[in-house]
Amino acid sequence: MTIAQITLHQPRRLVVGAGTIAEVGAWAADAQSILVIATPITAGFVDRLKLKGRVAVFDAIPGEPDIATLNAALETARQQKPDLIVGLGGGSVLDVAKLVAVLWNSEQTLADVAGPNRVAGRGTRLVQVATTAGTGSEAGIRSLITDPEKGNKIAVESPHMIADLAILDPELTYSVPPAVTAATGVDAMAHCVEAFTNRRAHPMIDGFARMGFRLVGKYLARAVKDGTDTEAREGMMLASYYGGICLGPVNTAAGHAIAYPLGTRLGLPHGLANAIIFPYVLAFNQTVAADKTAEVAQALGLGDTLTARELLSAARGFCRNLGIEMSLAAHGAKMDDLPLYASEAHSNRRLMDNNPIDMSVEDVLGIYKAAF
Ligand SMILES: [Fe+2]
Repeated sequence: MTIAQITLHQPRRLVVGAGTIAEVGAWAADAQSILVIATPITAGFVDRLKLKGRVAVFDAIPGEPDIATLNAALETARQQKPDLIVGLGGGSVLDVAKLVAVLWNSEQTLADVAGPNRVAGRGTRLVQVATTAGTGSEAGIRSLITDPEKGNKIAVESPHMIADLAILDPELTYSVPPAVTAATGVDAMAHCVEAFTNRRAHPMIDGFARMGFRLVGKYLARAVKDGTDTEAREGMMLASYYGGICLGPVNTAAGHAIAYPLGTRLGLPHGLANAIIFPYVLAFNQTVAADKTAEVAQALGLGDTLTARELLSAARGFCRNLGIEMSLAAHGAKMDDLPLYASEAHSNRRLMDNNPIDMSVEDVLGIYKAAF
């Protein structure tokens, strides 16, 4: 079998450990004008960056950033004229920071750069400081922005969006509530697992995926139980980072495609939407990815030699034991809306075509109904 060639981009420098957020100021000691992109909550960490220079903070980033959010952040950047941009937050913040870094002083618009490899360049340094363990956005070169008119996500991908410095400081995740820790932790695992069982899976990325889902099996329950368990929090940040690496050259598959309408239509947070769907796609793909699925099941402590039904039940139990409400109805979904979700998810060929086995619209609808 010939193995496809692969290209991997990673941050130029990665710093991991408790208290490492303070390294940003020393690393960027020469920065004159700095724009920090944050949320109202993560803006509370700005002092810990130990920045010198003139600092502006843009903190109006909602859970799912849209085009208007990006435009507001670009406006702030054009006033600040930064020589350093710091993303300080979860995936939404880090995704906006990437786009602001390449667009604020460019002739290009979001429409110009949508898709792979269309960004002309970047002249502003970019630091990404993760404050959640989920998206792994700090590791990669992709950014997702919601288009409210079309109800879908615009994906921009470019090596020019890689961080010069990424920071994984577990202390920044201490205050993430248990429910968010659980859902985003399962999302991080889904990035690893969907890349691992992917039609475009690659041995090098498989290695990162294994490290990621094993860390989730070892540490997620501990991080949910005690938010200040530094070892568990650091393990989950690494799992998230490895998941982010998996997203680059291989990406996710049916699980994320099916979760998207739950975000764009139903308004569920990305991590929660993926946690609800994850067990169904794991079980659905088992027939064509038996060995790899067994590896995942073992790492999560779900058991050995499971039938698809047993695997589904055990994976749902894994999520429920973390405190995740797994019923779509309980999250306000309406049975009548499921066919629309199913057709939207099925038409997301960017991700669906990565799935190791084809899924029909009826298969997708069946998963929504089973999760209802
Ligand atoms: Fe995700």
